[in-house]
Amino acid sequence: MARDQTRFVCQQCGAAHPKWSGKCEDCGGWNTLVEETVRGGPRAASAKKGGAVSFSDLSGPAEGLARRRSGSPEFDRVCGGGLVPGSALLVGGDPGIGKSTLLLQVAAALAAGKAGAALTCVYITGEESLDQVRLRAARLGVTAAPVQLAAATSIRELSGALDRADAPGLVVVDSIQTMYLDALDSAPGTVSQVRASAQELIRLAKTRGFILVLVGHVTKDGLIAGPRVLEHMVDTVLYFEGERGHQFRILRAVKNRFGPTDEIGVFEMTDAGLAEVPNPSALFLGDRRVPVSGAAVFAGVEGTRPMLVEIQALVAPSSFGTPRRAVVGWDGNRLAMVLAVLEARCGVEIGARDIYLNVAGGLRIAEPAADLAVAAALVSALHAEPVPADTVIFGEIGLSGEIRPVGQSDARLKEAEKLGFAAAITPPRRGRKERAADGLALRELAHLRELVGLFDAAARRPQRVRP
Ligand code: TYD
Ligand code: MG
Repeated sequence: MARDQTRFVCQQCGAAHPKWSGKCEDCGGWNTLVEETVRGGPRAASAKKGGAVSFSDLSGPAEGLARRRSGSPEFDRVCGGGLVPGSALLVGGDPGIGKSTLLLQVAAALAAGKAGAALTCVYITGEESLDQVRLRAARLGVTAAPVQLAAATSIRELSGALDRADAPGLVVVDSIQTMYLDALDSAPGTVSQVRASAQELIRLAKTRGFILVLVGHVTKDGLIAGPRVLEHMVDTVLYFEGERGHQFRILRAVKNRFGPTDEIGVFEMTDAGLAEVPNPSALFLGDRRVPVSGAAVFAGVEGTRPMLVEIQALVAPSSFGTPRRAVVGWDGNRLAMVLAVLEARCGVEIGARDIYLNVAGGLRIAEPAADLAVAAALVSALHAEPVPADTVIFGEIGLSGEIRPVGQSDARLKEAEKLGFAAAITPPRRGRKERAADGLALRELAHLRELVGLFDAAARRPQRVRP
């Protein structure tokens, strides 16, 4: 008979160690090891003999994969066009960002059959009481939807209720960190509990064919707690994010076995729940029409969707030995690179000044295509000379100062034209010369020096009144 075994599991990376120590040998995290007991030792289950595995052809039937649309176009697009039966989703995000609100709205829409046939939906809450969930439902105006609620945290009880032929079509578990399996001695929320609970729920989802949605909390570093392993187990990982003080929220697909990643959905938190934002560019650009120096409009693409955002820069004399660099919504290393290229390749003296860079509206941009727009905002701020009015900018900057082409430029140009822009500063367009957007005057730049030249020429105009 196997004995119970004690091990120390890192809560950050999931590595198991036989002895406690202050630092995890695997990931280098400090004070992350927690003692856990495995009943009967790790090999207790493997002694059993099982049946044989049967094999089948690739060309076999794949029915059951018909997607279920929730009726919320933003949510459906992020999921790759709807939810796939038998799949498991993980929705992560900071506390209070609106995960519970979003999922209650989605469950209510599916249960009410807002798009297509109605689905039986179950919402399991381990964090709030039933009354709290009902109160939120009343606020969202979805009390009439036939969503079944349960307050439960025991996976054993849950699997008793769900492991049936007439299992529901959608199960929302809010949150996976509150669930526990009584076969493990560790507390709910520890790596072993989270992993084992998720594994059991995912197994049920696959065998019974329901859509499983797990809510996951995010740690200080922005990762879904308990830890990365959870992201490998599920089919789809969505992050719900947004800046404090901003009304809108972004649902971002970081992994999707049934659709594209990098897709985003934009919502706005209102006093009656989350509202869809079908045209985010208009939201992010706000009501800017007066040209000011230090602002450039970047024509970006998030997933399959073009999105225009304003990039703002402020360049100020530095009163410190080491100038300040503050970046919101973009990568600080990338800013350092653009500054170095401006200084070393274009002779722009900017490195010794304080620099503040902000992506307006609180969006976070990861595309290198934003380089050129950032450079334009910086040079514009430095010369106190506005970027030409009604112009969008995109392009990647190489280390020698060359401007490199980026993907989906047609989509970027079309969006700019749709929003009433008149011109675009772009990388040189190779090959195909047919124009995607006829209403735009294109200015193709091959080197960053040419961009700097635009501002120098403007700054030399004598009668100009500087803002
Ligand atoms: P919640 O869904 O509870 O967040 P999470 O589950 O991610 O922790 O959302 C809580 C926040 O949303 C809270 O600050 C209040 C706000 N909220 C609204 O502004 N309007 C609403 O209609 C609802 C339901 C919540
Ligand atoms: Mg919640």
